[in-house]
Amino acid sequence: MIIDTHMHIYDDRYLDKEKVIQNALDNGVEKMIVIGYDKESSLKALELAKKYDFIYLAVGLHPSEVLKEEDKDLGWLTDILDKEKVIAIGEIGLDYYWDKSFIDEQKHYFKKQIELAKKYNLPIIIHNRDAMQDTFDIIKDCGVRGVLHCYGGSLEMARELVKKGWYLGIGGVVTFKNARIIKEVVKEIDLRYLITETDSPYLAPTPHRGELNEPAYTKYVVSEIASIKGITIDEVEKQVEENVKNLFGI
Ligand code: NI
Repeated sequence: MIIDTHMHIYDDRYLDKEKVIQNALDNGVEKMIVIGYDKESSLKALELAKKYDFIYLAVGLHPSEVLKEEDKDLGWLTDILDKEKVIAIGEIGLDYYWDKSFIDEQKHYFKKQIELAKKYNLPIIIHNRDAMQDTFDIIKDCGVRGVLHCYGGSLEMARELVKKGWYLGIGGVVTFKNARIIKEVVKEIDLRYLITETDSPYLAPTPHRGELNEPAYTKYVVSEIASIKGITIDEVEKQVEENVKNLFGI
């Protein structure tokens, strides 16, 4: 079984969502996690998760969206957490790549959502861009578990993270020819800490690089991991399935 642990196929760029979902199933993807990044997208994700039993739901406020948030206590998020079948809070975290002018707000909502994860006993799905050290300082002893989605840090940091039980999300970037560091991370880090994802519609793997990504392409990530580690595709699928079960309970 192939699992796409991170996708956003409610995106308007998908003109035929049914077809995208069917294509995923036809390519061996049997479970998918649809991820919100603000109130509106989380509600769209919720609709998809309600419609398909193999689509699981994560909801949260992304660091790049925090300035438009009006409710410091995230009432809309707790409303969903109270009522719906959510398997994780995400994607949440820190992003210093686009804008460094509101780091305090980013940290406020990141910590706030970690508190919610603790309260609801849920793992977290972390988005980090150019903010690895601050992210690590916040999560290292935070008391919840989770995954660093689309991991893009160093091998040394990867070792620190898995030592503390964090999982690393591996996506399309690992298939890029020049992605030396992430290939090294995949080679050196135990498969027990890696999970597969696409981040659709972004970051389509080779041979679809530059196109609209979709969950069906998780298979390219799986086969790249197998080839880097010198093991079979089946071994990768089985271990990732186990990891996903451990982390998300699905
Ligand atoms: Ni994402």
